[in-house]
Amino acid sequence: MVALLLALSVLFLLPELTYAEHAGITRHYKFVIQLQNVTRLCHTKSIVTVNGQFPGPTIVAREGDRLAVKVVNHVQNNITLHWHGVRQFRSGWADGPAYVTQCPIQTGRTYVYNFTIIGQRGTLFWHAHFSWQRSTVYGPLVILPKRGEPYPFIKPYKEVPIIFGEWFNGDPEAIIAQALQTGGGPNVSDAYTINGLPGPLYNCSVRDTFKLSVKPGKTYLLRLINAALNDNLFFGIANHTLTVVEADAVYVKPFHTDNLLITPGQTINVLLKSNPHYPNAAFFMAVRPYTTGLATFDNSTAVGLLEYQPPNSSHPSNILQLFNPSLPPLNDTSFATNYTQRLRSLANAQFPANVPQTVDKQFFFTVGMGLDPCNKNQTCQGPIGAKLSASINNVSFVQPITALLQAHFFGKSDGVYDTDFPNNPPFPFNYTGAPPNNMFVGHGTKVAVLPFNASVEVVLQGISILGTENHPFHLHGFNFFVVGQGFGNYDPSKDPSSFNLVDPLEGNTFGVPPAGWVAIRFRADNPGVWLMHCHLEAHTSWGLKMAWLVLDGRLPNQKLPPPPSDLPKC
Ligand code: C2O
Repeated sequence: MVALLLALSVLFLLPELTYAEHAGITRHYKFVIQLQNVTRLCHTKSIVTVNGQFPGPTIVAREGDRLAVKVVNHVQNNITLHWHGVRQFRSGWADGPAYVTQCPIQTGRTYVYNFTIIGQRGTLFWHAHFSWQRSTVYGPLVILPKRGEPYPFIKPYKEVPIIFGEWFNGDPEAIIAQALQTGGGPNVSDAYTINGLPGPLYNCSVRDTFKLSVKPGKTYLLRLINAALNDNLFFGIANHTLTVVEADAVYVKPFHTDNLLITPGQTINVLLKSNPHYPNAAFFMAVRPYTTGLATFDNSTAVGLLEYQPPNSSHPSNILQLFNPSLPPLNDTSFATNYTQRLRSLANAQFPANVPQTVDKQFFFTVGMGLDPCNKNQTCQGPIGAKLSASINNVSFVQPITALLQAHFFGKSDGVYDTDFPNNPPFPFNYTGAPPNNMFVGHGTKVAVLPFNASVEVVLQGISILGTENHPFHLHGFNFFVVGQGFGNYDPSKDPSSFNLVDPLEGNTFGVPPAGWVAIRFRADNPGVWLMHCHLEAHTSWGLKMAWLVLDGRLPNQKLPPPPSDLPKC
């Protein structure tokens, strides 16, 4: 009888299971935006969180699954959430940047982010995408391969998300508001964090130390995420070599390194092999910034502990002193360059690198800092008594008062945005030499229009106005290929001959080197409005962002569907 029932239930379940195998399942999450008291560095403050957790909850899905994340806003601030790195194929309404794809979710309101994860597996993350709220509102997004599909590397014994952040004793919203008002740089963070914990090198923080307890002789997959607001970070673990296997949820050719660089918005998977001969020992893992600009920054180090089981509790402090990783110096651009050049797509038959071999639309964008004039009767704290600003091709992005995607979809773009984003800088200058006399930027809400399926090349040229900095650029809605990079001014007659069109890194975030350039390519196969910006939040606030408007294709499955009925109103 029991056997019969089992057999019957298998029969009934079978179609369901088969369907789930192929099309993925829908995973429902409820994210309540709420305040929570959190104490770090002996400062207790009330922060905006998801479900009271800091860092926020980890989402785990499989390639092909649909996510339905119901966000309920119980705080006074408006908010949106962004699924950083998710391609959002024909689901632009769920992408999340405020006033780009949606109006913010207001107090007491609800919005369901509904999207399917197509053709991606690996580590990404989610974060708030309004003002500086992502300082506390962020969490890992783990995409496992389809059931039964192995990793192209050794099966790890355990997988551990490790998300880096920045802790501010003050209120980040007040910090950026003040900076925008005075024209000076924002106050820097008070600590870096590893899974929300600053570690023992900060005052009053020994108890708040991330600990990873490992068995000897096993392989661990560390899913590293840089959710810090304003800093590129170096990371390493004392006495351990890491094997990089994936970046931005794309497999890479594995390579070994003691330290790595991770830009804000980047996600890196590494294999860590615990030593078979290290019983009862503990090792620091550390993050601290990589920085080259003139701006002040938080020059501190967060550490966590890699502890071999069983832990030696008798005198841990002695052990801590012994094993300290040696991270590259703060401004080590040559490490940064060598490291990033080693990142190559796996590019095999199963995971090919579909690099656009020809280009339909070419863009040359200068990216970096500039100035805005000081208001009358005000003294400003930026250079030459002006206000700090930032631009792409001298256009500093002005946030509209309604969402660009809605304006586009309903044909109501008049007075919301212009479609004349410049393909080239308005006036050429020696981008990486002495700054031009006029360092002031222009303003506008401009988009660059792309026909459906265009093959796009963008050269992002760093500029040396107000110092040279690394700008981690992030593209929404697409993965791009990093086909070339270099220092100095990009030379269109010479540099393309050295482009890598075979196995370049594929991802959604990549640092433009200080006083250098990066060439990226992507195929505009996703209709909608897609933000591209520097992932240093201070720079984003100053206008270092623009948007692509990708038009619908002719076929039904090349068009953006209408918005969901619960899309927030402005
Ligand atoms: Cu991670 Cu536009 O953001």
